[in-house]
Amino acid sequence: MASGKRAEFDNKVVGWIDERLPVFTLMQKEYGVFPTPRNFNYFWNFGAIAMTMLILMIVTGIVLAMHYTPHTGEAFNSVERIMRDVNWGWMIRYMHMNGASFFFIAVYIHICRGMYYGSYKKPRELLWILGVLIFLLMMATAFMGYVLPWGQMSYWGATVITGFFSAIPVIGEDIQTWLLGGFTVDNATLNRFFSLHYLLPFLIVGVVFLHIWALHVSGSNNPTGIEPQSNKDPLPFHPFYTTKDTFGLLVFLLFYVAITFWAPNVLGHPDNYIEANPMVTPAHIVPEWYFLPFYAILRAVTFGVNIYVAAGIGLMALAMLPVYCAQTAFKVPVIYNDKDKKNFNWNKFFVLFGLGGAIFMLGFLCQYELADGSKALALPFGQLIFATAKLGGVLAMFGSIALLFVLPWLDTHPVKSANFRPMFKIALLVLLVDFIVLGLVGMKPAAGLWIPLGQIATAYYMSFFLIILPFLNKFEKALPVPKSINEAVLAKKKAK
Ligand code: HEM
Repeated sequence: MASGKRAEFDNKVVGWIDERLPVFTLMQKEYGVFPTPRNFNYFWNFGAIAMTMLILMIVTGIVLAMHYTPHTGEAFNSVERIMRDVNWGWMIRYMHMNGASFFFIAVYIHICRGMYYGSYKKPRELLWILGVLIFLLMMATAFMGYVLPWGQMSYWGATVITGFFSAIPVIGEDIQTWLLGGFTVDNATLNRFFSLHYLLPFLIVGVVFLHIWALHVSGSNNPTGIEPQSNKDPLPFHPFYTTKDTFGLLVFLLFYVAITFWAPNVLGHPDNYIEANPMVTPAHIVPEWYFLPFYAILRAVTFGVNIYVAAGIGLMALAMLPVYCAQTAFKVPVIYNDKDKKNFNWNKFFVLFGLGGAIFMLGFLCQYELADGSKALALPFGQLIFATAKLGGVLAMFGSIALLFVLPWLDTHPVKSANFRPMFKIALLVLLVDFIVLGLVGMKPAAGLWIPLGQIATAYYMSFFLIILPFLNKFEKALPVPKSINEAVLAKKKAK
């Protein structure tokens, strides 16, 4: 890092420091003259916004930790003391509480931007993977943080979520006991969650550093999805994007401040103002809003894997195999894939895929309970379950995040930006609506029509990644892409 040409600085003190430790040269190179595409829209503000929220969470968290007591007998009251007696304690706590929500809002928008403009594609695959890792770490941190106030939802949320580890065959219960530090959520759990909740944000800072490093190696993507080609395409980061980022940040903070001061509890659950009581289960246990879509996916799997479910999934996967392997040299040993892989035989695909779907449904109906308690269908071995619904739900939930890790290899279409991919654009916008529907389903009790709605929405989520994207790689014709970023900017100006 110290090697390379140093920048010149008028300020003597800055120059003196930089000669010995070139931090100012580094800043100048990476945030001063750094070439940045000239056509960013406001969606490119959200990385900087997320970074600001991360710092804000760490600072407010450190202050809260000065007054918080991680003990089951004291935790709830120590938070109440922060709210009532500690100078400005209420403000710091509300900033931290709502900061978590706004951090997730910023990161969700940041992820959507990346998906819409294909920012996960070559050469930014690792940058994307580091992002998904940050997202996972954020989820773990937020989950453990929510346990700390030791309210009813803290306690029961932790009980439900850690309970899912027991679904792992053979070793599940041991893992659960090990995580909790006992047989139930208790003092040992609270202590380790506090310790990890303090540690993980610093790990996130480390991964964010790698994330930005990777970004500064590949350079930023932009709304056209075309890489800069000449010096007409980029602008120096400062002053163009320092000002644009500051403006976007201030607008975002207006919303954050409005909620923090005028409606600080609107995003939380009232039951968390009741101290944890292991003897009283709340009528309806819900996680924080930002986990709801994943919670809905977890609960959508109401059936175990019997031979019909397994065979159905197997046949559907077999039907998809030629699509997955379309861009590889691998010759799929399935009859309908002709040698040159050009004439896709839709009829044969639909027969095999449809057959798989039908057999899957038979397996599902063998387990579907009717109002009188009997099963909707009785088939031989239909009740023989290899993997329970609980395990299936956990796998589906983790799988839904794992799909994000492999997204760069699921979407290999050569055009990045959805602006030039009409079919991808529609599928992605439907996914956004689907994710919101999943959130609504996660909020409701698992009963009545909410169950099939959650299952349909989960099926679309999975299909988007595993079926739609591979098909689009093969069949989607993109619109004409501009020759350069500069050309796209000039064309837009002309149109105005
Ligand atoms: C603590 C959370 C995060 C922080 C502080 C952060 C920070 C940043 C910053 C500052 C940028 C450059 C500015 C911008 O493009 O907006 C960026 C770019 C990017 N981030 Fe993140 N990020 C975070 C989480 C994530 C997550 C969860 C993902 C994906 C799952 C992700 C994927 C990306 C991608 C693909 C880019 C490149 C975008 C482009 O060039 O078009 N980031 N990030």
